[in-house]
Amino acid sequence: MAAGHNQYPPMTGVPALRNAISAKVEALYGRRYDPAGEITITAGATQAIITAILAVVRPGDEAIVLEPCYDSYVPAIELSGGTVVRVPLTPGTFRPDFDRIAAALTPRTRLIVINSPHNPSGTVWTREEMLRLQDLLAPTDAFVLSDEVYEHMVFDGQQHWSAARFPGWRRVR
Ligand SMILES: Cc1ncc(COP(=O)(O)O)c(C=O)c1O
Repeated sequence: MAAGHNQYPPMTGVPALRNAISAKVEALYGRRYDPAGEITITAGATQAIITAILAVVRPGDEAIVLEPCYDSYVPAIELSGGTVVRVPLTPGTFRPDFDRIAAALTPRTRLIVINSPHNPSGTVWTREEMLRLQDLLAPTDAFVLSDEVYEHMVFDGQQHWSAARFPGWRRVR
Protein backbone atom coordinates (compact mmCIF):
# COMPACT_ATOMS: atom_id res chain seq x y z
CA MET A 1 0.00 0.00 0.00
CA ALA A 2 2.81 2.38 0.91
CA ALA A 3 4.22 1.90 -2.62
CA GLY A 4 0.89 2.92 -4.13
CA HIS A 5 -0.10 -0.50 -5.54
CA ASN A 6 -3.49 -0.62 -3.79
CA GLN A 7 -5.43 1.55 -6.21
CA TYR A 8 -6.79 1.01 -9.71
CA PRO A 9 -4.11 1.10 -12.41
CA PRO A 10 -4.69 3.36 -15.41
CA MET A 11 -7.68 2.00 -17.37
CA THR A 12 -5.45 1.27 -20.36
CA GLY A 13 -2.97 -0.73 -18.22
CA VAL A 14 0.19 0.07 -16.30
CA PRO A 15 2.70 2.07 -18.36
CA ALA A 16 5.58 -0.39 -17.77
CA LEU A 17 3.55 -3.19 -19.40
CA ARG A 18 2.43 -1.03 -22.32
CA ASN A 19 6.03 0.09 -22.87
CA ALA A 20 7.22 -3.53 -22.83
CA ILE A 21 4.56 -4.57 -25.36
CA SER A 22 5.45 -1.66 -27.63
CA ALA A 23 9.14 -2.65 -27.47
CA LYS A 24 8.32 -6.31 -28.16
CA VAL A 25 6.17 -5.52 -31.20
CA GLU A 26 8.78 -3.12 -32.55
CA ALA A 27 11.58 -5.68 -32.08
CA LEU A 28 9.60 -8.41 -33.83
CA TYR A 29 7.76 -6.53 -36.54
CA GLY A 30 9.58 -3.21 -36.98
CA ARG A 31 6.57 -1.08 -36.21
CA ARG A 32 6.38 1.30 -33.25
CA TYR A 33 3.05 1.76 -31.53
CA ASP A 34 2.76 4.62 -29.06
CA PRO A 35 2.39 3.00 -25.60
CA ALA A 36 0.38 6.00 -24.39
CA GLY A 37 -2.16 6.12 -27.20
CA GLU A 38 -2.11 2.92 -29.23
CA ILE A 39 -1.76 0.05 -26.74
CA THR A 40 -4.46 -1.10 -24.32
CA ILE A 41 -4.14 -3.97 -21.86
CA THR A 42 -7.06 -6.41 -21.67
CA ALA A 43 -7.87 -9.51 -19.65
CA GLY A 44 -6.90 -11.86 -22.47
CA ALA A 45 -7.64 -11.96 -26.18
CA THR A 46 -11.36 -12.64 -25.89
CA GLN A 47 -11.82 -9.36 -24.06
CA ALA A 48 -9.53 -7.61 -26.54
CA ILE A 49 -11.65 -8.90 -29.42
CA ILE A 50 -14.99 -7.82 -27.97
CA THR A 51 -13.51 -4.49 -26.90
CA ALA A 52 -12.21 -3.80 -30.40
CA ILE A 53 -15.47 -4.88 -32.04
CA LEU A 54 -17.64 -2.78 -29.71
CA ALA A 55 -15.32 0.17 -30.34
CA VAL A 56 -15.87 0.25 -34.09
CA VAL A 57 -18.98 -1.73 -35.13
CA ARG A 58 -22.32 0.06 -34.90
CA PRO A 59 -25.88 -1.10 -35.69
CA GLY A 60 -26.24 -1.25 -39.46
CA ASP A 61 -22.54 -1.94 -40.02
CA GLU A 62 -21.37 -5.19 -41.59
CA ALA A 63 -18.48 -7.19 -40.14
CA ILE A 64 -16.84 -10.00 -42.10
CA VAL A 65 -15.61 -13.20 -40.43
CA LEU A 66 -13.72 -15.93 -42.27
CA GLU A 67 -15.14 -19.28 -41.25
CA PRO A 68 -14.35 -21.48 -39.46
CA CYS A 69 -13.30 -18.98 -36.82
CA TYR A 70 -12.79 -18.62 -33.08
CA ASP A 71 -16.12 -18.79 -31.27
CA SER A 72 -16.15 -15.31 -29.78
CA TYR A 73 -16.14 -13.27 -33.02
CA VAL A 74 -19.75 -13.80 -34.06
CA PRO A 75 -21.41 -13.16 -30.66
CA ALA A 76 -19.31 -10.02 -30.19
CA ILE A 77 -20.45 -8.66 -33.56
CA GLU A 78 -24.07 -9.59 -32.78
CA LEU A 79 -23.81 -7.80 -29.43
CA SER A 80 -22.56 -4.67 -31.20
CA GLY A 81 -25.72 -4.62 -33.33
CA GLY A 82 -23.70 -5.18 -36.48
CA THR A 83 -24.49 -7.74 -39.16
CA VAL A 84 -22.24 -10.79 -39.36
CA VAL A 85 -21.11 -11.54 -42.92
CA ARG A 86 -19.74 -15.08 -43.06
CA VAL A 87 -17.15 -15.81 -45.74
CA PRO A 88 -15.84 -19.37 -45.90
CA LEU A 89 -12.12 -20.06 -46.05
CA THR A 90 -11.11 -22.34 -48.91
CA PRO A 91 -12.25 -25.88 -48.04
CA GLY A 92 -9.33 -28.19 -47.41
CA THR A 93 -6.56 -25.58 -47.25
CA PHE A 94 -8.29 -22.97 -45.08
CA ARG A 95 -6.57 -20.25 -47.11
CA PRO A 96 -8.38 -16.92 -47.63
CA ASP A 97 -10.54 -16.83 -50.77
CA PHE A 98 -10.07 -13.29 -52.04
CA ASP A 99 -12.78 -13.55 -54.67
CA ARG A 100 -15.30 -14.35 -51.95
CA ILE A 101 -13.93 -11.66 -49.64
CA ALA A 102 -14.14 -9.11 -52.47
CA ALA A 103 -17.71 -10.19 -53.19
CA ALA A 104 -18.64 -9.71 -49.52
CA LEU A 105 -17.40 -6.11 -49.35
CA THR A 106 -20.11 -3.45 -49.45
CA PRO A 107 -20.21 0.25 -48.58
CA ARG A 108 -21.44 -0.86 -45.14
CA THR A 109 -18.42 -3.10 -44.42
CA ARG A 110 -16.92 -1.73 -41.22
CA LEU A 111 -14.64 -4.55 -40.14
CA ILE A 112 -13.01 -7.78 -41.24
CA VAL A 113 -11.66 -10.18 -38.65
CA ILE A 114 -8.63 -12.20 -39.69
CA ASN A 115 -6.74 -14.84 -37.72
CA SER A 116 -3.25 -16.08 -38.50
CA PRO A 117 -1.93 -18.51 -37.37
CA HIS A 118 -5.45 -19.83 -37.66
CA ASN A 119 -7.58 -21.66 -35.13
CA PRO A 120 -8.59 -24.39 -35.87
CA SER A 121 -6.51 -25.23 -38.97
CA GLY A 122 -3.04 -23.81 -38.14
CA THR A 123 -2.90 -22.12 -41.56
CA VAL A 124 -0.45 -19.20 -41.60
CA TRP A 125 -1.16 -16.34 -43.99
CA THR A 126 1.66 -15.49 -46.39
CA ARG A 127 3.04 -12.01 -46.95
CA GLU A 128 1.35 -12.01 -50.38
CA GLU A 129 -2.02 -12.82 -48.83
CA MET A 130 -1.66 -10.00 -46.29
CA LEU A 131 -0.73 -7.61 -49.11
CA ARG A 132 -3.68 -8.80 -51.15
CA LEU A 133 -6.09 -8.06 -48.32
CA GLN A 134 -4.47 -4.67 -47.76
CA ASP A 135 -4.95 -3.83 -51.45
CA LEU A 136 -8.53 -5.07 -51.41
CA LEU A 137 -9.41 -2.89 -48.43
CA ALA A 138 -7.48 0.20 -49.56
CA PRO A 139 -10.48 1.84 -51.28
CA THR A 140 -12.84 0.98 -48.37
CA ASP A 141 -13.41 2.37 -44.88
CA ALA A 142 -13.07 -1.08 -43.30
CA PHE A 143 -10.96 -1.80 -40.25
CA VAL A 144 -8.94 -4.99 -39.82
CA LEU A 145 -9.06 -6.86 -36.54
CA SER A 146 -6.02 -9.14 -36.72
CA ASP A 147 -6.14 -11.91 -34.13
CA GLU A 148 -2.55 -13.11 -33.74
CA VAL A 149 -2.78 -14.99 -30.44
CA TYR A 150 -0.80 -17.88 -31.92
CA GLU A 151 1.96 -15.66 -33.36
CA HIS A 152 4.65 -17.76 -31.70
CA MET A 153 3.18 -21.15 -32.67
CA VAL A 154 4.57 -21.34 -36.20
CA PHE A 155 6.31 -24.47 -37.45
CA ASP A 156 7.97 -26.06 -40.50
CA GLY A 157 9.89 -22.95 -41.53
CA GLN A 158 6.79 -20.84 -42.03
CA GLN A 159 6.79 -17.17 -41.05
CA HIS A 160 4.16 -15.17 -39.21
CA TRP A 161 3.31 -11.93 -41.00
CA SER A 162 1.83 -9.64 -38.37
CA ALA A 163 -0.62 -6.97 -39.50
CA ALA A 164 1.81 -4.63 -37.73
CA ARG A 165 4.18 -5.09 -40.67
CA PHE A 166 1.70 -3.61 -43.15
CA PRO A 167 1.29 0.13 -42.74
CA GLY A 168 -1.52 0.43 -45.26
CA TRP A 169 -4.43 -0.43 -42.94
CA ARG A 170 -6.67 2.29 -41.68
CA ARG A 171 -5.68 3.14 -38.08
CA VAL A 172 -7.72 4.28 -35.10
CA ARG A 173 -6.26 7.38 -33.46
C1 LIG B 1 -7.94 -17.55 -32.44
C2 LIG B 1 -8.15 -17.31 -30.98
N1 LIG B 1 -8.24 -16.04 -30.54
C3 LIG B 1 -8.43 -15.79 -29.23
C4 LIG B 1 -8.56 -16.82 -28.30
C5 LIG B 1 -8.80 -16.50 -26.85
O1 LIG B 1 -7.69 -16.08 -26.17
P1 LIG B 1 -7.79 -15.77 -24.60
O2 LIG B 1 -7.76 -17.10 -23.91
O3 LIG B 1 -6.59 -14.94 -24.32
O4 LIG B 1 -9.08 -15.06 -24.33
C6 LIG B 1 -8.48 -18.14 -28.73
C7 LIG B 1 -8.62 -19.24 -27.77
O5 LIG B 1 -8.86 -20.37 -28.12
C8 LIG B 1 -8.28 -18.39 -30.09
O6 LIG B 1 -8.22 -19.64 -30.56
